[in-house]
Amino acid sequence: MSLVIEIDSLVKVYNGRRAKRALDSITFTVERGDLFGFLGPNGAGKTTTIRILATLLEPTDGTAIIDGHDIRDDPIAIRDIIGYSPENPGFYPTMRGRDHLLYWAEFYGIPKAERRRQAKDLLALVDLEEDADTKLKAYSHGMRQRLALAQALLNDPPILILDEPAGGLDPAGMRFFRELMKRFNSEGKTIFLSSHLLSEVEMTCKTVGVIHRGKMMEVSGLSTLQNRIAQTRETSIHVETDDLSEKAVAAVRSMEGVLDVEVSGASLVIRVEANSELAADINSTLLAHGARVRSLKQQEVSLEDVFVALTEGS
Ligand SMILES: Nc1ncnc2c1ncn2[C@@H]1O[C@H](COP(=O)(O)OP(=O)(O)OP(=O)(O)O)[C@@H](O)[C@H]1O
Ligand SMILES: [Mg+2]
Repeated sequence: MSLVIEIDSLVKVYNGRRAKRALDSITFTVERGDLFGFLGPNGAGKTTTIRILATLLEPTDGTAIIDGHDIRDDPIAIRDIIGYSPENPGFYPTMRGRDHLLYWAEFYGIPKAERRRQAKDLLALVDLEEDADTKLKAYSHGMRQRLALAQALLNDPPILILDEPAGGLDPAGMRFFRELMKRFNSEGKTIFLSSHLLSEVEMTCKTVGVIHRGKMMEVSGLSTLQNRIAQTRETSIHVETDDLSEKAVAAVRSMEGVLDVEVSGASLVIRVEANSELAADINSTLLAHGARVRSLKQQEVSLEDVFVALTEGS
C-alpha cells in the first residue's frame, strides 16, 4: 500500500494581533486510492491544512509530502498532480462558465487544442452544458460548486483535494456530488475532501480523519470508528413482533444488559448497555414467550455520535 499524503507534525501559527495556533502538530497519512473525509467543526483547521497541501500556505513547522514531493521543495510538481477546489472559489462575475474553464486551462498550461475539449467534457460531466454560456454572476451556489469541481478536474489529476465541496448543496446536488466522488475514486483517483457534514462523510468516504481545535482526534476506517463508539455508548434495538404478550415484554425487561423497554403496539425499542451483544438473546427470549419476531434491528451508530464522543470534554 503506498501513501499519497504524508503529514508529519504539521504546525501552523497565524501571526495576527494575537497569535493563533491553527494546527497543533498534526500527523496522519492517506493511502493511494482512498476516499478520505477530513471532518471537523468550524475553525478546526481543515482549510488551513488543505491550503498547506495545495501549496498555497506555508506551514510554521512540520512536513507534508504529496506523492513523494515535499510541499516546500517541490510545489510545482505538486500542482501538476493535484486538483484543488477552495472553500470559497473565486469567479469573475462577467465571465461565462466555459470561458472560466478555458481561462484556467490556459493558466495550468494545458495545450490550446486540448483546452476546448476538456472544457466541453467537464461541463458535461458536472451537468453545466446548458449554462456554458451563462455569466458566472448568474450561477447559483450549486452551479458554482460544480464549476469549481470541474476546474479542479482540469488535466485529469490523480489526486483531488477539495475543501467543503458539498457545502450548501441540496439533497439532489449532494447525491450527484457523492456519485461523482465514488466514480472518480473507483477509477483510481485518491480523494481528500473536507466537510463538517457528518452524514455526508459517512455516506461518501472510506476513511475518516477527525480534526478538532488543530489536533487530530482519530483517523480510521469508517466502520472501525463506528464500532469503537458503539462499544462506549448505549444503543437501542428495534424489534417488530406478532403476538406480543406482557409476559414476553417482562422477560426482555428482566434480561441482564437491558436498560429500558418501550412498547408501542407490537413494536419494541429496547435500550441496551454499551457493548452488549444482546440481539440474539432478545430474539430467543421473545420466541420462548410466544412472540414471533418479524424484524430486529440494532441502531447504527452515526458519525454524529462518533464526533460527539471524540470531541466532547476536550
Ligand atoms: N488568515 C488567518 N489569520 C488568522 N487566523 C486564521 C486565519 N485563517 C484561519 N485562522 C484561524 O485558524 C483556525 C482554523 O481555521 P480554518 O479556516 O483552518 O478552519 P476550518 O476547519 O476550515 O473551519 P470552517 O469549517 O469554518 O471552514 C481558526 O481559529 C481561524 O480563526
Ligand atoms: Mg474551512
